[in-house]
Amino acid sequence: MSALANELGAINLSQGFPDYDCSPHLVELVNQAMKKGHNQYAPMAGVMALREQLAYKTERLYGASYNPDTEITITAGGTQAVFTAISAVIHPNDEVIIFEPAFDCYAPAIKLMGGVVKSLELEPPNYRIDWNMVKKLITNRTKMIILNSPHNPTATILHKEDIDQLSALIKNQDIYILSDEVYEHLIYDGEQHHSMALYPELRERSFIIASFGKLCHTTGWKVGYCLAPAALTHEFRKIHQFLVFSVNTPVQYGIAEYLKDEQVYLGLPEFFQQKRDHFRNGLEQTRFKLLPCYGSYFQSVTYDNITDEKDADFAIRLAKEFGVATIPTSAFYNRGTDYHVLRFCFAKKQETLDNAVDRLLKV
Ligand SMILES: Cc1ncc(COP(=O)(O)O)c(C=O)c1O
Repeated sequence: MSALANELGAINLSQGFPDYDCSPHLVELVNQAMKKGHNQYAPMAGVMALREQLAYKTERLYGASYNPDTEITITAGGTQAVFTAISAVIHPNDEVIIFEPAFDCYAPAIKLMGGVVKSLELEPPNYRIDWNMVKKLITNRTKMIILNSPHNPTATILHKEDIDQLSALIKNQDIYILSDEVYEHLIYDGEQHHSMALYPELRERSFIIASFGKLCHTTGWKVGYCLAPAALTHEFRKIHQFLVFSVNTPVQYGIAEYLKDEQVYLGLPEFFQQKRDHFRNGLEQTRFKLLPCYGSYFQSVTYDNITDEKDADFAIRLAKEFGVATIPTSAFYNRGTDYHVLRFCFAKKQETLDNAVDRLLKV
């Protein structure tokens, strides 16, 4: 859809990336790191100053202590961390439970390792996980469950009840968790992010994945990280060493310095909630129906009172005829399940969101 948006000159609310710049101060810090000569390979696990910052942040926010030496690894973005965690523990015929709609990189990585994807399809408007259904999917070959909260594309979050049910379900089972928490700070209305780091019995079996692309508004830098207990990190790094070896050095130094200001991440909910509210207010004037948005920078809508077209067809027509590009949510279901839901990204300048709403008012 981004390619189509570019071709048509449409307003691109499809792919998830900001259309405003990151902090000039961060750019300056990376610049300084380059000028100081931090231009050669970083250590395999990542620059220590950055790992220490992450240890501090995780302790402060979730009361969990991760050893920067043995339990934190800097990666070339969240996607690489997801791939590496999956390839570290999934072997042929291992089963992995995922919830659809799902971010697109989970299933291919599982299949590449010879694993079997067991997906549970969630339904709008609430996309809640039915843990009884999860229980039915668990077999003696289940090796991993992949969670993503706040969730792309549905903007839902895990609640304490979900955590309780998950904990009860996998107690005494050899099941790992891959917790994709790249939107951990994009959570609204005072809700708490239920990181796996908060729960010792879950933390001990979890790979927690995050991305500085989301945290610093720098999706093009492709730097992220993985938190995992020492034994899991040991396996993770066996793959990381030969897949990536070393991640961009000056960017790591720059981010390490930048994160010393806690407002960088503590201020994100307010920053994005303002965008969410502004965009939702605008969309409320249109004929689209809003789905809830608890977290992430995505807003989904249904359009049943506008047309009965398939979501993919309607998304293309919206881009071509009305000049607004979105993502059809069926793209996130392996079977292409279509609930007539479109996803907008609101990590955009206010004027971009206003212009998009002006166009959507004509639909
Ligand atoms: C849910 C989810 N996980 C992982 C990623 C990947 O993050 P990165 O861009 O750092 O590879 C994204 C990016 O959009 C995402 O939405």
